[in-house]
Amino acid sequence: MNVSQPSRTRVDLTALRSMKAAGRKFAMLTAYDYPTAVLAQAAGVHALLIGDSLATVVLGHPNTRPAPLDVMIVLGEAVRRGAPDVYFVGDMPYEALSGGIEKAVTAARRFRDEAGCDAVKVEAQSQDERLVGELARAGLDTIAHIGLRPQAVLTPEGYRAQARDPDSIAALVADARRLVAAGAVMLLLEAVPNEASQAVVAAVDIPVIGCGAGPACDGHVLVTHDMLGLGAPRPPRFVPALAQVDKIIEEAMRRYVEDIVNGQYPRPEHVYRMRAPTGGRPQ
Ligand code: KIV
Repeated sequence: MNVSQPSRTRVDLTALRSMKAAGRKFAMLTAYDYPTAVLAQAAGVHALLIGDSLATVVLGHPNTRPAPLDVMIVLGEAVRRGAPDVYFVGDMPYEALSGGIEKAVTAARRFRDEAGCDAVKVEAQSQDERLVGELARAGLDTIAHIGLRPQAVLTPEGYRAQARDPDSIAALVADARRLVAAGAVMLLLEAVPNEASQAVVAAVDIPVIGCGAGPACDGHVLVTHDMLGLGAPRPPRFVPALAQVDKIIEEAMRRYVEDIVNGQYPRPEHVYRMRAPTGGRPQ
């Protein structure tokens, strides 16, 4: 791709921690392919996630559980090729988390060693302290994803905001503290009110990424397809409508069909010409 890339240094965990310390927010998006990764890095996105949301937005499943680890690793390699300087996170799919700790650690190593990820993300509850601890002992940086955990939600109607009363906020803060103590290097909070995010941010000293979690978070992540208006009929309320790319694509495809049906394509400029006969003038 021919996209101009401003020269920049690689974003690592130290850089994200420094941004938090300086009160500077960071931007994260999902990416599942090379061209999106190239554009994201060129746009100044600090961090990318190869999310298991791939199962819904790319593969068309109703929930994230069927995201295949092997596919995520191959596409993760492509994302890293496109965006060598961003902080890159591999999302541990249900497949990797449902077969015990050893299997999960093996999957996390694949994200690091094959896809070039800086960290993995695990949808976690307090009982996942042991997993986070084992990943840390294996030298793998882990982001603990708390609040709404999409792998526990099997239908689109099940996506509901979490921690909306003082007791649930206290429980969320307790989970956050336990996961940080176990070795998580960042937290990701999904679909909680800003009051809950404020309480978590105040309780821990690591960066907190929000996904529909209000302005208190240190950085924010969105599913890129939702933000671009690409195949997402009803994106969640926290997604800003920054583009309607599906309209542009559908219109281009409609014109392509019309041009073929009406004999307008291919035109002479789209057609290869025969070589000039030997000895003749080139065409
Ligand atoms: O898989 C994903 O895209 C995610 C984001 C919603 C944070 O986990």
